[in-house]
Amino acid sequence: MQRFAIILLALSCCFAALGRSVWDGVYTKEQALRGQTAYREECARCHSENLGGGEGSPALAGGDFLKNWNGKTVGDLLDRIVKTMPADDPGNLARRQYADITAWVLNSNEFPAGPKDLDSTPSTLTDVAIEEKREKK
Ligand code: HEC
Repeated sequence: MQRFAIILLALSCCFAALGRSVWDGVYTKEQALRGQTAYREECARCHSENLGGGEGSPALAGGDFLKNWNGKTVGDLLDRIVKTMPADDPGNLARRQYADITAWVLNSNEFPAGPKDLDSTPSTLTDVAIEEKREKK
């Protein structure tokens, strides 16, 4: 039992050390541009071209959006989008398109691009924290 507790403790420390955030460059610029095209076709009719939101559809960039998602993960966000969006046709896009669009949403919230595409499987992104402000390290 004690040994189990020690293993858990050791593991939680490693996860904390490995934890990434949206400030670490978790998507590529090319991916975000693909996402922009898909966003225009699939999301803009409700959330508006500039992600500012529309009648009954919330904004996907800026203050309110970041407050909603602060402290959650990119895995949560991608999962939410895959399962519920487009609201009039949920789950109907390719997985890669969902990942590209999520990259575009991150880009529109001014999180930096990096060397690798965002993965399309939400469960691999549960260590990527959404932080409204960059944590001082
Ligand atoms: C037919 C209109 C419509 C379309 C198209 C649509 N959405 Fe939405 N979306 C909504 C509405 C309405 C809500 C709020 C109610 C809800 O959560 O279902 C919402 C909520 C969201 C949220 C949660 C926002 C928050 O702060 O909690 C996200 C993220 C989102 N949409 C992303 C997308 C993406 C990405 C696409 C394109 C793949 C998309 N939506 C397409 C209508 C739409």
